[in-house]
Amino acid sequence: MSVGIDDISFYTSNYYLDLKSLADVHNIEKDKFYQGIGQEKMGIVAADEDVVTMAANAALPLLKDVDPHSISTVMFATETGIDQSKAAGIFVHGLLGLPNRCRVVELKQACYSATAAIQMACAMVARDPARKILVIAADIARYDLNSSGEATQGCGAAAMLISANPRLLKIHPESGNYTEDVMDFWRPNYRSTALVDGKYSTKIYLKSLKQAWLHYQDVGGVEFEQIDHLCYHLPFTRMAEKSQSQLARVTKTGRDAEQLNAMIEPSLSYNRLIGNSYTASMYIGLISLLDNAKEDLSGKRVGFFSYGSGCVAEFFTGTVVDGYEEHLHRDLHSKLLNNRRELSYPEYLDLYHFEYPTDGGEHQFPEQTQGQFRLAGINQHKRIYNAR
Ligand code: CAA
Repeated sequence: MSVGIDDISFYTSNYYLDLKSLADVHNIEKDKFYQGIGQEKMGIVAADEDVVTMAANAALPLLKDVDPHSISTVMFATETGIDQSKAAGIFVHGLLGLPNRCRVVELKQACYSATAAIQMACAMVARDPARKILVIAADIARYDLNSSGEATQGCGAAAMLISANPRLLKIHPESGNYTEDVMDFWRPNYRSTALVDGKYSTKIYLKSLKQAWLHYQDVGGVEFEQIDHLCYHLPFTRMAEKSQSQLARVTKTGRDAEQLNAMIEPSLSYNRLIGNSYTASMYIGLISLLDNAKEDLSGKRVGFFSYGSGCVAEFFTGTVVDGYEEHLHRDLHSKLLNNRRELSYPEYLDLYHFEYPTDGGEHQFPEQTQGQFRLAGINQHKRIYNAR
């Protein structure tokens, strides 16, 4: 029996800022963003959106042809927590109308925790193959205005159903891990924006890639030459190029620059337009690969490098299942991205500065999102969600 991803979809806000606008305001060349970091646009959440609404919107298409009673667990991976106590996934469970006989939990380890969720979900399905696990990763990447990280903001959610005999991707059991106590990127509870040592964070990312790869080799993983495509955690898409160079050095591969680029290019398209979505970013990269690869991916092996600052990293692989194309949500994704509205820089600032009231009163938020689910307001410190 194989275990892996049976269905996958993503959601992002219907608002974005073109990084050209940011470059104009800061009086720098737009190519620093378009080429230097490989980002063109960044998704910006509306006032009535948060990780819960994005997660529920991402998961909705997966529930169309599945018996909700077969979903035994919802795992919600995020570093944009909305409550110190209650798991954000419980709101999603409610919005999606999932059965009460289903457990829900939230996982945190920076951008890495969706990968931990998937590994745990695979183990749970191996124990009880009749069950499906809904793994959702959702985040809003926010940095200080005028900081080096500002251009790498973004938002998005990826939802995946993990099952036995999956229709999209079989996940192989070998995985390489690397953990080290470092302060490259973090967000103390009292801050709404992340703190980051930008250059150091990219160094630690590449060090972790090498170490996770070496561990993956030690536990019997396949050689680099047997991997057809790679999905990296994408804080910005140029990071994948740097990562390919790093793995090429470590593995002493015979593949040339064009071949190395072909391994990653289809996985970058969506992230270039969405920006960083932390826990969701590598999985949106996988969706981009499945939706956009020119070749038939059936039987192809995909490598994954998941990285969460702080830091925990993991390398693992999966094999694309024959007939996967029939189960993609390609049209939905292209419609979502094509129907977004560009924000002017002042509009971006307005949304950036929007803050949830903390006075315990009754507050309603403007209807801005086009999504199926919205955060309608806050009343007595309770978030009120509704479906359209
Ligand atoms: N045309 C083309 N390229 C240009 C250019 C132009 N006009 N101007 C500059 N560039 C190039 C530079 O040469 C540079 O290329 P190299 O990386 O090959 O050297 C690239 O654009 C970036 O320029 P800078 O190094 O000057 O950029 P910066 O210092 O302003 O910021 C950054 C880069 C540190 C990554 C910053 O975006 C940042 O702090 N980001 C947030 C942290 C982050 O994403 N870290 C990644 C690892 S941590 C992680 O993965 C977890 C996570 O999700 C946050």
